[in-house]
Amino acid sequence: MRVYDLIRKKRDGGELSAAELEFLVKEYTAGTLPDYQMAAFLMAVFFRGLNAAETTALTLAMAHSGEMADLSSLPGITVDKHSTGGVADTTTLVLAPLVAACGVTVAKMSGRGLGHTGGTVDKLESIPGFRTALSRQEFFDVVKTAGMAVVGQSGELCPADKKMYALRDVTATVDCLPLIAASIMSKKLAGGSQAIVLDVKCGRGAFLKDLAQARELARAMVAIGERAGRKTVAVISDMSQPLGMAIGNALEVREAVTTLAGKGPQRLTDLCLTLGGEMVALAGRASDPGQGRALVAEALASGRGLEQFERWVAAQGGDPAVAREPERLPQAPVRLPVRSQAEGYVIAVEAERLGLVAMELGAGRQRKDDPVDLRVGLEVRLELGSRVEVGQEIALIHAASEQQAREAAASVLAAYSLGPKPAERPPLVYEVVRAA
Ligand code: URA
Ligand code: CA
Repeated sequence: MRVYDLIRKKRDGGELSAAELEFLVKEYTAGTLPDYQMAAFLMAVFFRGLNAAETTALTLAMAHSGEMADLSSLPGITVDKHSTGGVADTTTLVLAPLVAACGVTVAKMSGRGLGHTGGTVDKLESIPGFRTALSRQEFFDVVKTAGMAVVGQSGELCPADKKMYALRDVTATVDCLPLIAASIMSKKLAGGSQAIVLDVKCGRGAFLKDLAQARELARAMVAIGERAGRKTVAVISDMSQPLGMAIGNALEVREAVTTLAGKGPQRLTDLCLTLGGEMVALAGRASDPGQGRALVAEALASGRGLEQFERWVAAQGGDPAVAREPERLPQAPVRLPVRSQAEGYVIAVEAERLGLVAMELGAGRQRKDDPVDLRVGLEVRLELGSRVEVGQEIALIHAASEQQAREAAASVLAAYSLGPKPAERPPLVYEVVRAA
Protein backbone atom coordinates (compact mmCIF):
# COMPACT_ATOMS: atom_id res chain seq x y z
CA MET A 1 0.00 0.00 0.00
CA ARG A 2 1.34 3.42 -0.92
CA VAL A 3 0.14 6.45 1.02
CA TYR A 4 0.42 8.50 -2.17
CA ASP A 5 -2.12 6.25 -3.92
CA LEU A 6 -4.58 6.49 -1.01
CA ILE A 7 -4.40 10.29 -0.94
CA ARG A 8 -4.93 10.39 -4.72
CA LYS A 9 -7.87 8.00 -4.54
CA LYS A 10 -9.66 10.16 -1.98
CA ARG A 11 -8.71 13.33 -3.83
CA ASP A 12 -10.44 11.92 -6.93
CA GLY A 13 -13.58 10.96 -4.99
CA GLY A 14 -12.90 7.26 -4.58
CA GLU A 15 -13.85 5.06 -1.63
CA LEU A 16 -11.19 3.74 0.73
CA SER A 17 -11.40 0.27 2.24
CA ALA A 18 -11.26 -0.39 5.98
CA ALA A 19 -7.77 -1.87 5.53
CA GLU A 20 -6.59 1.28 3.73
CA LEU A 21 -7.96 3.59 6.44
CA GLU A 22 -6.45 1.40 9.18
CA PHE A 23 -3.10 1.57 7.41
CA LEU A 24 -3.19 5.39 7.32
CA VAL A 25 -4.13 5.69 11.00
CA LYS A 26 -1.60 3.09 12.15
CA GLU A 27 1.29 4.58 10.22
CA TYR A 28 0.41 8.08 11.35
CA THR A 29 0.14 7.10 15.03
CA ALA A 30 3.46 5.26 14.79
CA GLY A 31 5.11 8.35 13.29
CA THR A 32 6.08 6.67 10.02
CA LEU A 33 3.55 8.66 7.98
CA PRO A 34 4.55 12.35 7.97
CA ASP A 35 2.25 15.24 8.88
CA TYR A 36 2.24 16.57 5.30
CA GLN A 37 0.73 13.38 3.91
CA MET A 38 -1.88 13.13 6.66
CA ALA A 39 -2.68 16.83 6.10
CA ALA A 40 -3.22 16.19 2.39
CA PHE A 41 -5.44 13.21 3.17
CA LEU A 42 -7.52 15.24 5.67
CA MET A 43 -7.97 18.02 3.11
CA ALA A 44 -9.07 15.46 0.52
CA VAL A 45 -11.64 14.19 3.03
CA PHE A 46 -12.74 17.75 3.70
CA PHE A 47 -13.66 18.18 0.01
CA ARG A 48 -14.74 14.62 -0.89
CA GLY A 49 -16.27 13.44 2.38
CA LEU A 50 -16.51 9.90 3.72
CA ASN A 51 -19.45 7.52 3.37
CA ALA A 52 -20.90 5.69 6.39
CA ALA A 53 -18.70 2.61 5.94
CA GLU A 54 -15.55 4.72 5.59
CA THR A 55 -16.45 6.92 8.57
CA THR A 56 -16.98 3.86 10.76
CA ALA A 57 -13.75 2.23 9.59
CA LEU A 58 -11.79 5.43 10.28
CA THR A 59 -13.41 5.75 13.72
CA LEU A 60 -12.63 2.15 14.67
CA ALA A 61 -9.03 2.52 13.49
CA MET A 62 -8.67 5.68 15.61
CA ALA A 63 -10.32 4.01 18.63
CA HIS A 64 -7.93 1.06 18.37
CA SER A 65 -4.85 3.30 18.06
CA GLY A 66 -4.50 3.14 21.86
CA GLU A 67 -5.99 1.36 24.79
CA MET A 68 -9.62 0.17 24.50
CA ALA A 69 -11.22 0.27 27.96
CA ASP A 70 -12.80 -3.05 28.90
CA LEU A 71 -15.77 -2.43 31.19
CA SER A 72 -17.27 -5.89 30.75
CA SER A 73 -16.59 -6.87 34.39
CA LEU A 74 -18.87 -4.06 35.62
CA PRO A 75 -22.47 -4.88 36.47
CA GLY A 76 -25.25 -4.25 33.94
CA ILE A 77 -25.07 -2.24 30.74
CA THR A 78 -22.66 0.69 31.04
CA VAL A 79 -23.91 3.93 29.50
CA ASP A 80 -21.89 6.99 28.51
CA LYS A 81 -23.08 10.45 27.60
CA HIS A 82 -21.31 13.06 25.50
CA SER A 83 -22.08 16.71 24.84
CA THR A 84 -20.63 18.47 21.81
CA GLY A 85 -20.04 21.47 24.07
CA GLY A 86 -22.35 24.07 25.51
CA VAL A 87 -22.34 27.12 27.75
CA ALA A 88 -23.65 26.75 31.34
CA ASP A 89 -23.96 23.04 30.47
CA THR A 90 -23.47 21.13 33.68
CA THR A 91 -25.67 18.20 32.62
CA THR A 92 -23.08 15.47 33.35
CA LEU A 93 -22.90 16.44 37.04
CA VAL A 94 -26.68 16.22 37.36
CA LEU A 95 -27.40 13.40 34.97
CA ALA A 96 -24.77 10.85 36.00
CA PRO A 97 -25.97 10.64 39.65
CA LEU A 98 -29.62 10.63 38.57
CA VAL A 99 -29.24 7.69 36.22
CA ALA A 100 -26.91 5.89 38.65
CA ALA A 101 -29.69 6.28 41.25
CA CYS A 102 -31.90 4.40 38.73
CA GLY A 103 -29.43 1.48 38.71
CA VAL A 104 -27.50 2.40 35.55
CA THR A 105 -23.72 1.90 35.68
CA VAL A 106 -21.87 5.06 34.66
CA ALA A 107 -18.10 4.67 34.10
CA LYS A 108 -17.20 7.85 32.34
CA MET A 109 -14.10 9.52 31.01
CA SER A 110 -14.46 13.27 30.58
CA GLY A 111 -12.42 16.07 29.14
CA ARG A 112 -11.17 19.45 30.31
CA GLY A 113 -12.65 22.68 29.05
CA LEU A 114 -11.29 24.43 25.97
CA GLY A 115 -12.37 27.77 24.49
CA HIS A 116 -15.81 29.02 25.46
CA THR A 117 -17.18 25.71 26.82
CA GLY A 118 -16.35 24.19 30.19
CA GLY A 119 -15.12 20.70 30.94
CA THR A 120 -16.51 18.30 33.50
CA VAL A 121 -13.08 17.39 34.88
CA ASP A 122 -12.28 21.04 35.71
CA LYS A 123 -15.66 21.46 37.40
CA LEU A 124 -15.15 18.35 39.53
CA GLU A 125 -11.73 19.57 40.63
CA SER A 126 -13.41 22.52 42.35
CA ILE A 127 -14.77 20.06 44.93
CA PRO A 128 -12.21 19.97 47.78
CA GLY A 129 -10.30 16.67 47.72
CA PHE A 130 -11.99 15.29 44.56
CA ARG A 131 -9.61 13.12 42.52
CA THR A 132 -10.14 12.93 38.74
CA ALA A 133 -6.97 10.91 38.06
CA LEU A 134 -7.58 7.36 39.24
CA SER A 135 -5.69 4.19 38.44
CA ARG A 136 -7.66 1.62 36.48
CA GLN A 137 -8.15 -0.43 39.66
CA GLU A 138 -9.37 2.61 41.63
CA PHE A 139 -11.73 3.53 38.79
CA PHE A 140 -13.31 0.05 38.85
CA ASP A 141 -13.47 0.03 42.66
CA VAL A 142 -15.29 3.39 42.72
CA VAL A 143 -17.78 2.21 40.10
CA LYS A 144 -18.43 -0.95 42.07
CA THR A 145 -18.87 0.78 45.44
CA ALA A 146 -20.60 4.00 44.34
CA GLY A 147 -22.30 2.81 41.12
CA MET A 148 -20.52 5.43 39.08
CA ALA A 149 -17.23 7.22 38.45
CA VAL A 150 -16.11 10.13 36.30
CA VAL A 151 -12.40 10.50 35.57
CA GLY A 152 -10.15 12.48 33.22
CA GLN A 153 -9.21 11.01 29.87
CA SER A 154 -5.92 9.20 30.14
CA GLY A 155 -3.14 9.80 27.66
CA GLU A 156 -3.32 6.29 26.22
CA LEU A 157 -6.87 6.76 24.96
CA CYS A 158 -7.07 7.50 21.21
CA PRO A 159 -3.55 8.79 20.49
CA ALA A 160 -4.50 8.94 16.78
CA ASP A 161 -7.27 11.43 17.54
CA LYS A 162 -4.95 13.58 19.60
CA LYS A 163 -2.43 13.81 16.76
CA MET A 164 -5.01 14.20 14.00
CA TYR A 165 -6.94 16.87 15.91
CA ALA A 166 -3.79 18.92 16.46
CA LEU A 167 -3.05 18.68 12.72
CA ARG A 168 -6.64 19.55 11.74
CA ASP A 169 -6.44 22.58 14.00
CA VAL A 170 -3.62 24.09 11.91
CA THR A 171 -4.76 22.92 8.45
CA ALA A 172 -8.36 24.27 8.40
CA THR A 173 -9.88 20.79 8.52
CA VAL A 174 -11.63 20.89 11.90
CA ASP A 175 -15.05 21.85 10.56
CA CYS A 176 -15.63 18.68 8.57
CA LEU A 177 -18.57 16.58 9.77
CA PRO A 178 -17.21 13.05 9.11
CA LEU A 179 -13.92 13.99 10.80
CA ILE A 180 -15.76 15.48 13.79
CA ALA A 181 -17.98 12.40 14.04
CA ALA A 182 -14.96 10.07 13.87
CA SER A 183 -13.05 12.15 16.42
CA ILE A 184 -15.86 12.18 18.99
CA MET A 185 -16.96 8.57 18.46
CA SER A 186 -13.42 7.13 18.52
CA LYS A 187 -13.08 8.42 22.09
CA LYS A 188 -16.52 7.09 23.06
CA LEU A 189 -15.79 3.65 21.61
CA ALA A 190 -12.40 3.52 23.34
CA GLY A 191 -14.12 4.58 26.59
CA GLY A 192 -15.76 1.17 26.59
CA SER A 193 -19.42 1.85 27.41
CA GLN A 194 -21.94 -0.42 25.71
CA ALA A 195 -24.47 2.36 25.12
CA ILE A 196 -23.95 6.02 24.27
CA VAL A 197 -26.27 9.03 24.50
CA LEU A 198 -25.07 12.05 22.54
CA ASP A 199 -26.19 15.61 23.27
CA VAL A 200 -25.65 17.47 20.00
CA LYS A 201 -25.85 21.19 20.62
CA CYS A 202 -27.28 23.48 17.99
CA GLY A 203 -27.49 27.28 17.90
CA ARG A 204 -25.35 30.39 18.14
CA GLY A 205 -23.61 29.22 21.35
CA ALA A 206 -22.61 25.88 19.77
CA PHE A 207 -20.07 25.08 17.10
CA LEU A 208 -22.94 23.88 14.87
CA LYS A 209 -25.15 26.89 14.28
CA ASP A 210 -27.97 25.33 12.28
CA LEU A 211 -30.28 22.34 12.63
CA ALA A 212 -29.44 20.74 9.27
CA GLN A 213 -25.76 20.44 10.24
CA ALA A 214 -26.56 19.24 13.75
CA ARG A 215 -28.83 16.56 12.26
CA GLU A 216 -26.14 15.44 9.83
CA LEU A 217 -23.58 15.11 12.63
CA ALA A 218 -26.09 13.34 14.90
CA ARG A 219 -27.00 10.83 12.17
CA ALA A 220 -23.34 10.19 11.34
CA MET A 221 -22.47 9.50 15.00
CA VAL A 222 -25.49 7.26 15.59
CA ALA A 223 -24.59 5.27 12.45
CA ILE A 224 -20.99 4.83 13.64
CA GLY A 225 -22.10 3.72 17.12
CA GLU A 226 -24.57 1.18 15.78
CA ARG A 227 -22.14 -0.19 13.17
CA ALA A 228 -19.59 -0.56 15.97
CA GLY A 229 -22.07 -2.54 18.06
CA ARG A 230 -22.98 0.13 20.62
CA LYS A 231 -26.54 1.26 21.20
CA THR A 232 -26.48 4.95 20.32
CA VAL A 233 -29.03 7.79 20.49
CA ALA A 234 -28.49 11.49 19.78
CA VAL A 235 -30.59 14.32 21.23
CA ILE A 236 -30.33 17.60 19.32
CA SER A 237 -30.73 20.35 21.91
CA ASP A 238 -30.81 24.12 21.81
CA MET A 239 -27.76 26.27 22.50
CA SER A 240 -29.09 29.61 21.30
CA GLN A 241 -28.77 30.69 24.94
CA PRO A 242 -26.91 29.29 27.96
CA LEU A 243 -28.51 26.05 29.17
CA GLY A 244 -28.35 26.78 32.89
CA MET A 245 -27.65 30.01 34.75
CA ALA A 246 -24.10 29.40 36.04
CA ILE A 247 -20.89 29.60 33.99
CA GLY A 248 -17.63 28.71 35.73
CA ASN A 249 -16.33 25.65 37.53
CA ALA A 250 -17.32 25.92 41.22
CA LEU A 251 -20.43 27.89 40.19
CA GLU A 252 -21.55 25.02 37.96
CA VAL A 253 -21.00 22.47 40.72
CA ARG A 254 -23.19 24.64 42.94
CA GLU A 255 -25.81 24.76 40.17
CA ALA A 256 -25.62 20.96 39.80
CA VAL A 257 -26.35 20.35 43.48
CA THR A 258 -29.12 22.97 43.47
CA THR A 259 -30.62 21.13 40.49
CA LEU A 260 -30.30 17.75 42.21
CA ALA A 261 -32.11 19.34 45.18
CA GLY A 262 -34.98 20.10 42.80
CA LYS A 263 -34.40 23.87 42.68
CA GLY A 264 -32.37 24.18 39.50
CA PRO A 265 -33.08 26.11 36.30
CA GLN A 266 -35.97 24.61 34.39
CA ARG A 267 -34.24 24.08 31.02
CA LEU A 268 -31.23 22.37 32.60
CA THR A 269 -33.52 20.15 34.66
CA ASP A 270 -35.67 19.30 31.67
CA LEU A 271 -32.73 18.37 29.44
CA CYS A 272 -31.33 16.13 32.19
CA LEU A 273 -34.67 14.30 32.34
CA THR A 274 -34.72 13.83 28.56
CA LEU A 275 -31.11 12.61 28.32
CA GLY A 276 -31.54 10.53 31.47
CA GLY A 277 -34.68 8.87 30.10
CA GLU A 278 -32.73 7.79 27.02
CA MET A 279 -29.82 6.47 29.13
CA VAL A 280 -32.09 4.48 31.46
CA ALA A 281 -33.92 2.99 28.47
CA LEU A 282 -30.67 2.06 26.64
CA ALA A 283 -29.44 0.37 29.83
CA GLY A 284 -32.58 -1.76 29.82
CA ARG A 285 -33.85 -0.30 33.12
CA ALA A 286 -36.97 1.06 31.42
CA SER A 287 -39.05 -0.23 28.53
CA ASP A 288 -38.87 3.06 26.64
CA PRO A 289 -37.45 6.61 27.02
CA GLY A 290 -40.77 7.90 28.39
CA GLN A 291 -40.73 5.41 31.25
CA GLY A 292 -37.02 6.13 31.68
CA ARG A 293 -37.77 9.82 32.04
CA ALA A 294 -40.38 9.09 34.73
CA LEU A 295 -37.85 7.01 36.68
CA VAL A 296 -35.26 9.79 36.49
CA ALA A 297 -37.86 12.36 37.58
CA GLU A 298 -38.66 10.16 40.58
CA ALA A 299 -34.95 9.91 41.51
CA LEU A 300 -34.82 13.71 41.39
CA ALA A 301 -38.01 14.36 43.37
CA SER A 302 -37.17 11.81 46.08
CA GLY A 303 -33.68 13.22 46.68
CA ARG A 304 -32.06 9.90 45.73
CA GLY A 305 -30.08 11.65 43.00
CA LEU A 306 -28.55 14.07 45.51
CA GLU A 307 -27.71 11.19 47.88
CA GLN A 308 -26.07 9.37 44.97
CA PHE A 309 -24.02 12.52 44.23
CA GLU A 310 -22.76 12.51 47.85
CA ARG A 311 -21.79 8.82 47.71
CA TRP A 312 -19.99 9.34 44.43
CA VAL A 313 -18.06 12.45 45.54
CA ALA A 314 -16.98 10.70 48.75
CA ALA A 315 -15.87 7.62 46.77
CA GLN A 316 -13.57 9.82 44.64
CA GLY A 317 -12.05 11.48 47.71
CA GLY A 318 -14.11 14.69 47.60
CA ASP A 319 -15.97 16.49 50.37
CA PRO A 320 -19.57 15.21 50.11
CA ALA A 321 -20.83 18.07 52.31
CA VAL A 322 -20.67 20.43 49.29
CA ALA A 323 -23.96 18.82 48.25
CA ARG A 324 -25.82 20.41 51.19
CA GLU A 325 -23.45 23.31 51.91
CA PRO A 326 -22.20 24.64 48.57
CA GLU A 327 -20.50 27.53 50.46
CA ARG A 328 -17.71 25.00 51.00
CA LEU A 329 -16.77 25.35 47.32
CA PRO A 330 -14.02 27.86 46.49
CA GLN A 331 -15.35 31.42 46.22
CA ALA A 332 -14.03 34.40 44.26
CA PRO A 333 -13.06 37.49 46.30
CA VAL A 334 -14.96 39.99 44.11
CA ARG A 335 -18.67 39.95 43.24
CA LEU A 336 -20.07 42.56 40.91
CA PRO A 337 -23.70 42.79 39.84
CA VAL A 338 -24.32 43.83 36.22
CA ARG A 339 -27.37 46.08 35.87
CA SER A 340 -29.43 46.72 32.76
CA GLN A 341 -29.19 50.21 31.27
CA ALA A 342 -32.36 49.77 29.22
CA GLU A 343 -35.78 48.14 29.45
CA GLY A 344 -37.50 45.58 27.24
CA TYR A 345 -37.54 41.88 26.52
CA VAL A 346 -34.51 39.69 25.85
CA ILE A 347 -34.66 38.87 22.14
CA ALA A 348 -31.15 37.42 21.71
CA VAL A 349 -28.31 36.17 23.91
CA GLU A 350 -24.79 35.60 22.69
CA ALA A 351 -24.07 32.45 24.68
CA GLU A 352 -20.64 32.06 23.12
CA ARG A 353 -19.69 35.57 24.26
CA LEU A 354 -20.82 34.78 27.82
CA GLY A 355 -18.68 31.62 27.73
CA LEU A 356 -15.72 33.73 26.57
CA VAL A 357 -16.31 36.23 29.39
CA ALA A 358 -16.05 33.38 31.90
CA MET A 359 -12.91 32.15 30.14
CA GLU A 360 -11.33 35.62 30.31
CA LEU A 361 -12.17 35.82 34.01
CA GLY A 362 -10.00 32.70 34.30
CA ALA A 363 -12.63 29.93 34.36
CA GLY A 364 -11.46 28.39 31.08
CA ARG A 365 -8.38 28.05 28.97
CA GLN A 366 -7.33 29.31 25.57
CA ARG A 367 -4.50 26.82 25.28
CA LYS A 368 -4.49 23.24 26.49
CA ASP A 369 -2.00 23.83 29.31
CA ASP A 370 -3.36 27.11 30.71
CA PRO A 371 -4.24 27.01 34.43
CA VAL A 372 -7.87 27.67 35.44
CA ASP A 373 -9.30 29.64 38.37
CA LEU A 374 -11.99 27.37 39.78
CA ARG A 375 -13.68 30.22 41.71
CA VAL A 376 -14.58 32.65 38.93
CA GLY A 377 -17.34 32.99 36.35
CA LEU A 378 -20.81 34.43 36.20
CA GLU A 379 -24.37 33.76 37.16
CA VAL A 380 -26.86 35.00 34.60
CA ARG A 381 -30.38 35.99 35.59
CA LEU A 382 -32.18 36.31 32.24
CA GLU A 383 -33.42 33.92 29.60
CA LEU A 384 -34.73 34.54 26.09
CA GLY A 385 -38.09 36.26 26.54
CA SER A 386 -37.37 37.64 30.05
CA ARG A 387 -38.71 41.14 30.82
CA VAL A 388 -36.02 43.58 32.07
CA GLU A 389 -36.29 47.00 33.74
CA VAL A 390 -33.63 49.73 33.92
CA GLY A 391 -31.31 48.99 36.85
CA GLN A 392 -32.37 45.35 37.17
CA GLU A 393 -29.57 42.87 37.92
CA ILE A 394 -28.98 40.78 34.80
CA ALA A 395 -25.88 38.91 35.98
CA LEU A 396 -23.53 38.54 38.94
CA ILE A 397 -19.84 38.37 38.13
CA HIS A 398 -17.45 36.38 40.32
CA ALA A 399 -13.91 37.63 39.69
CA ALA A 400 -10.39 37.55 41.05
CA SER A 401 -10.08 41.37 40.89
CA GLU A 402 -12.21 44.54 40.60
CA GLN A 403 -10.53 45.38 37.31
CA GLN A 404 -11.39 42.01 35.74
CA ALA A 405 -14.95 42.24 37.04
CA ARG A 406 -15.48 45.67 35.45
CA GLU A 407 -14.15 44.49 32.08
CA ALA A 408 -16.41 41.45 32.20
CA ALA A 409 -19.47 43.55 33.05
CA ALA A 410 -19.20 45.51 29.79
CA SER A 411 -19.05 42.30 27.75
CA VAL A 412 -22.00 40.77 29.60
CA LEU A 413 -24.15 43.82 28.83
CA ALA A 414 -23.20 43.59 25.16
CA ALA A 415 -24.21 39.90 25.04
CA TYR A 416 -27.92 40.70 25.53
CA SER A 417 -30.17 42.30 22.89
CA LEU A 418 -33.41 43.83 24.10
CA GLY A 419 -36.53 44.49 22.04
CA PRO A 420 -39.98 45.95 22.66
CA LYS A 421 -41.81 42.59 22.36
CA PRO A 422 -40.89 39.09 23.62
CA ALA A 423 -39.42 36.99 20.79
CA GLU A 424 -40.45 33.40 20.22
CA ARG A 425 -38.58 30.97 22.49
CA PRO A 426 -36.75 28.14 20.73
CA PRO A 427 -37.62 24.56 21.72
CA LEU A 428 -35.21 22.94 24.20
CA VAL A 429 -35.00 19.70 22.20
CA TYR A 430 -35.28 19.81 18.41
CA GLU A 431 -35.32 16.10 17.78
CA VAL A 432 -34.03 12.73 18.88
CA VAL A 433 -32.04 10.73 16.33
CA ARG A 434 -32.18 6.95 16.69
CA ALA A 435 -30.78 4.08 14.66
CA ALA A 436 -32.63 3.59 11.36
N1 URA B 1 -14.87 17.59 19.45
C1 URA B 1 -14.01 16.57 19.23
O1 URA B 1 -13.69 15.80 20.13
N2 URA B 1 -13.49 16.43 17.99
C2 URA B 1 -13.80 17.25 16.98
O2 URA B 1 -13.30 17.05 15.89
C3 URA B 1 -14.69 18.32 17.22
C4 URA B 1 -15.22 18.45 18.47
CA1 CA C 1 -19.69 18.90 29.25
